[in-house]
Amino acid sequence: MLQNKKILLGVTGGIAAYKSLSLVRLLVKNGCEVKVILTQAAQSFVTPLSFSTLSKNLVLTDNFNSKTGEWHNHVELGNWADLMLIAPASANTLAKMALGISDNLLITTYLSAKCPVFIAPAMDLDMYAHPTTQENLSKLAKHGNQIIPATEGELASGLWGQGRMAEPEDIITFIENTNRKKTQKFVGKKVLITAGPTQEPLDPVRYITNYSSGKMAYSIADVFSKEGAEVMLISGPVQISPPSQTKLISIITAKEMYEKVIQHFHSADIIVCAAAVSDYRPEVYVDNKIKKTDSFFKLNLVKNPDIAKELGQIKEDDQILVGFALETENYLENAKKKLLEKNFDLIVLNKGNQANVGMMSDTNEVDLIFKNGKTINIGLKDKKLIAQDLVDSIFDIIK
Ligand code: C5P
Repeated sequence: MLQNKKILLGVTGGIAAYKSLSLVRLLVKNGCEVKVILTQAAQSFVTPLSFSTLSKNLVLTDNFNSKTGEWHNHVELGNWADLMLIAPASANTLAKMALGISDNLLITTYLSAKCPVFIAPAMDLDMYAHPTTQENLSKLAKHGNQIIPATEGELASGLWGQGRMAEPEDIITFIENTNRKKTQKFVGKKVLITAGPTQEPLDPVRYITNYSSGKMAYSIADVFSKEGAEVMLISGPVQISPPSQTKLISIITAKEMYEKVIQHFHSADIIVCAAAVSDYRPEVYVDNKIKKTDSFFKLNLVKNPDIAKELGQIKEDDQILVGFALETENYLENAKKKLLEKNFDLIVLNKGNQANVGMMSDTNEVDLIFKNGKTINIGLKDKKLIAQDLVDSIFDIIK
């Protein structure tokens, strides 16, 4: 993710500066080009030579190189960087950054930089906890800088507390996670997805159901979750595990699914009804196994709640409702009818009588039909890829 990024690393005076040598190694290993600025105080802990060896790049310490007469242009440096990282950031440097005291190359470059800036403070616990340091940190955060909190542990003073610079691996993970969040499409959005079949028991050993593997719904949950959404799956019995990061509520019958969906519907921004809900259930449940007696057995069925239809009636204008249609004839016509009947914003049409599509299969071919009549055909492909196309289309509706 950091591949080919130009990183400007500022190192200030603190014992944690030795860890920044590993940080440079890791950044270079991740495919970054690294330029380092050392403050005067940093050079008492680490040498420019160590950094230039590891970064295979020029290391800068001052605005002006007295030996060559060369002027190091802080504006150019600031523009060069895709990302600026100050690690370790001493209390002194934090204070100068917060106030704009530009008496060294690091601060002048910081003030000129237009790229994202990450700050990893390191100092003794009392310095870190001091209201001045904390105020400076919150001021810097307010200015849009990303603060990588110091961690707890043994400090150079021998004391124990918060003030250790985050480990180089953790600094890289922090930067990657922050960058990922920026590109995720559904950060802060709550998504409710119904999945799988329902089972409607007639006695302790028998039930009626629909074919459904849950693969399509679980793939949609996975994509939403990777795009930063908070995902809840309300799912009937399936043989697959829910994607990590999603909350799973397991149900058996349509009535149970209905109750859970109604309970959570109002807090959802996006609702995807991908479950193959049984339209009917046995009128009575018999407590003991039904014995075979006559040649014919009559089973009375009663209608289950149409969850999607009811959601369509109560949904708010800012909620997006997506449904599925499994049709075996008059595909587009039937799906469009369902879209209107259930007040969906988007319906996914499955053609139920074709090879390698729908229900238990890993692949699918669908049409996405929007409220405004626009239709997109998504040719035969893996359900995971179809899920990505669907989630992208939902994003287009929100945009
Ligand atoms: O009417 P039909 O069952 O074809 O509609 C399919 C859509 O309605 C799907 O999105 C399905 O999840 C949803 N549905 C539902 N509750 C039902 C039946 C279907 O939510 N009882």
